[in-house]
Amino acid sequence: MLGLKSIDLKKVKTETLAIPVCEDKNIHDDKIISSLITRAKKLEEFKGDSGEEVIFYSLPEIKANRIILMGLGKLEKLNAESLRAFAGKAVKKCINMKLPEVLIVLPSAKKIKMEMPLPLEAIIEGACLGNHLFDKYKEEKKHVSLEKIDFLVTSDVAKSFGSILKSISTICEGTIFARDLINTPSNDKKPEQFTKIIADIAKKENLKVKIFDEKELKSKKFEALLAAAAGSQSKPRMIVLEHNPEDAKKTIVLVGKGVTFDSGGINLKPTGSLEEMKSDMSGAAAVAATLIALAKLKHKIRVVGVIPVVENMPSGDASRPGDIVRSYSGKTVEILNTDAEGRLILIDAISYAVKKYKPETLIDIATLTGSCVVALGEKIAGVFSSDDELAQSIIRSGEKTYERCWHMPMPDDYKEELKSDFADIKNIGSSRWGGAITGALFLSEFVGDTRWAHIDIAGPSYMKKGNAYCGVGGTGFGVRLFCDLLKKL
Ligand code: BES
Ligand code: MG
Ligand code: ZN
Repeated sequence: MLGLKSIDLKKVKTETLAIPVCEDKNIHDDKIISSLITRAKKLEEFKGDSGEEVIFYSLPEIKANRIILMGLGKLEKLNAESLRAFAGKAVKKCINMKLPEVLIVLPSAKKIKMEMPLPLEAIIEGACLGNHLFDKYKEEKKHVSLEKIDFLVTSDVAKSFGSILKSISTICEGTIFARDLINTPSNDKKPEQFTKIIADIAKKENLKVKIFDEKELKSKKFEALLAAAAGSQSKPRMIVLEHNPEDAKKTIVLVGKGVTFDSGGINLKPTGSLEEMKSDMSGAAAVAATLIALAKLKHKIRVVGVIPVVENMPSGDASRPGDIVRSYSGKTVEILNTDAEGRLILIDAISYAVKKYKPETLIDIATLTGSCVVALGEKIAGVFSSDDELAQSIIRSGEKTYERCWHMPMPDDYKEELKSDFADIKNIGSSRWGGAITGALFLSEFVGDTRWAHIDIAGPSYMKKGNAYCGVGGTGFGVRLFCDLLKKL
């Protein structure tokens, strides 16, 4: 339960209050809060530096049982992300203290030199996302999420920005849905199960849902996708979600890589590289969650999510290095490395989407390459597009949401590397280097002249260590990014 509150702290009783504090400037208009901060800063242990915290219990001037002051450091360093982190930390702190609720105080927009609703959005996001726990597989539940999170704002803000609470929390629920799917172990999300989980929720939100089973994929000749799935006992699927608002003119397609487990296949991954491969469906999760959020928000543009889902396993039936398959597009592909499976399922999904929907823009999102992580680290996604305007829009949405993206090159001459001796193209580059680029170039051969971008999220889709508003595991990267981007496309 979330709410915008404008109450008098002197009169209305609250359980727990969380207040952001800057080291060098007072960022609050309220007199009581300001004087409380002045008092706190006289303490040796609290100056408002980033990471510092102090708790007051039952003060005479404020009717709260607990008041948590949290330092944010210097004002010049304060931005939307530090507010997100503050709210996430405040919620996590309350969860750890086993409290049921919190009232989070908004700083004055003017004093932090931000324009409403930016700080409000950031604080709601941090709080919603920080309230997520994934404990489905723990018999003993040590902690529970907060039941109630309120935000203390002026009455003007409460009146003007009430609808923001709904839209932001819907998008954050999407991020959380994606995180849950990613954290679910691969034994509980075989392609059939995985698509059913998505389909059930999507149908409730009135998305049009179509699932292709193995029989249909075979009859329609999705042979690259089928080759990636061949080694697994669990049969592949492809799920298509359509958000079809009335009078929509253009169509945007999102394609998400859904490998429910990536063992590498016959090119088996070594120990150390396998343990996180349940997250190889993070692109699929981002696309499904985005479509569900768009449906809830009654988004105006037609958006279609195309999600190929396979498990990549070694077996007597698995594809072998050297195998050649005819992809859905008609082009033949030599599979020289069975661990480059994501691109095999993506090209069939992309070719299908281009043919069926003739989209104005197509964006795919995938945990495609380890080399993208080598290039950009674990927190930044690679964006590949020959359409600079589209790439820039994605990067701007990345800045807004702090799902950071970097524009990567797709030099024409690197295409040489994908030349096959026996087929139209091979699924890996000849050189050891630049694998994220050859991966993107491989996909580019199947988009025709559709306006297209590819987002490689192998790094930021998963976190070994949690942060202020995300626990260990899936991050749900892409959902907030897409929801912001789609407003602007
Ligand atoms: N799913 C992996 C990419 C990946 C790596 C995701 C690390 C998350 C973290 C992908 O299917 C893969 O195995 N890619 C290969 C491609 C190579 C064989 C050309 C890679 O990156 O090594
Ligand atoms: Mg692989
Ligand atoms: Zn993979």
